[in-house]
Amino acid sequence: MNKDLQLSSVIAGTLKWGVRGAKFSKEEYLRLIENCVEIELTSFDHADIYGNYTTEEEFGNALRMKPQLRQQLQLITKCGIRIVSSNRPENKIKSYDTSKEHIIASAERSLKNLNTDYLDLLLLHRPDPIMDPDEIAAAFARLKKEGKVLHFGVSNFSPSQTEMILSRFPIISNQVEISILHLQPFLDGTLDQCITRKLIPMAWSPLGGGNIFASLDDERNIRITAVAQFLAEKYNAGPDQVLLSWLLKHPSGIYPVLGTSKFERIEAALDATRIILEREEWFLLWRASTGYEVP
Ligand SMILES: NC(=O)c1ccc[n+]([C@@H]2O[C@H](COP(=O)([O-])OP(=O)(O)OC[C@H]3O[C@@H](n4cnc5c(N)ncnc54)[C@H](OP(=O)(O)O)[C@@H]3O)[C@@H](O)[C@H]2O)c1
Repeated sequence: MNKDLQLSSVIAGTLKWGVRGAKFSKEEYLRLIENCVEIELTSFDHADIYGNYTTEEEFGNALRMKPQLRQQLQLITKCGIRIVSSNRPENKIKSYDTSKEHIIASAERSLKNLNTDYLDLLLLHRPDPIMDPDEIAAAFARLKKEGKVLHFGVSNFSPSQTEMILSRFPIISNQVEISILHLQPFLDGTLDQCITRKLIPMAWSPLGGGNIFASLDDERNIRITAVAQFLAEKYNAGPDQVLLSWLLKHPSGIYPVLGTSKFERIEAALDATRIILEREEWFLLWRASTGYEVP
């Protein structure tokens, strides 16, 4: 595990805090941040594009009310996707941009929006088919030298894409979709690489974006929730906690990035770290997801 950056064992994702979800007021943002810090959940996941380019600024406005909070937080954000938005009239089509100028400009804008003078971790949001690792490394080196970003990483990168960036710059994390509904990173080398290269794996949509609980007419979801419920009784927990503990058991040290904006669910997620599933229990869930016994 990479020890350079200390994160809380679960991370609060802000995708749905703003206009695309809870529509929090400044006071509600602040209350949730403070409540999280109180239970020692101190890491927050952002992206420039969240809330149609507005969520970072809303979060930053909340921090402005209590600037002393900043030093207790780890702020993660992402760059590299350009979406069509009235907030960015220059973007004519959705595209990726990992040019040196864009990475630097985006990080500087995130600093301003989040009302901070450093980012703990900056991720390239998606692999760009025409990315140039030398150009990316030059952008990262400049941001690091200026003290604007402490650490760098990638998101949704394949092992070979991650290796390409690592050949030019010491990144520390890959944030990918991992859940009981999305097993690919267990099988395609992503998590193996995190162990080998001491990268921090972060799991986005750790509860399958909520689909496991939402669509119970699906055979696979029925199997998974039945097993999760059975284990939940044993551990005196909720099925959501069991599914998070299932991720936490992986030796790569997965950090779930939570999607909920409800404090009780965030608190429950943190409490899931107490559950240590037995090996066969882990495989019960794996079998419920795949629908068959391991070969
Ligand atoms: N790097 C990337 O490309 C990428 C992509 C997507 C997301 N992300 C990050 O990952 C974070 C999480 O993504 P996500 O929202 O898909 O995660 P998720 O935690 O898998 O899903 C969140 C959804 O599940 C629901 N939910 C959570 N706990 C529940 C429970 N106990 N019972 C019923 N429903 C429950 C939530 O509803 P409530 O809100 O009502 O609790 C919410 O709608 C985002 O905020 C963002 O920071 C990154």
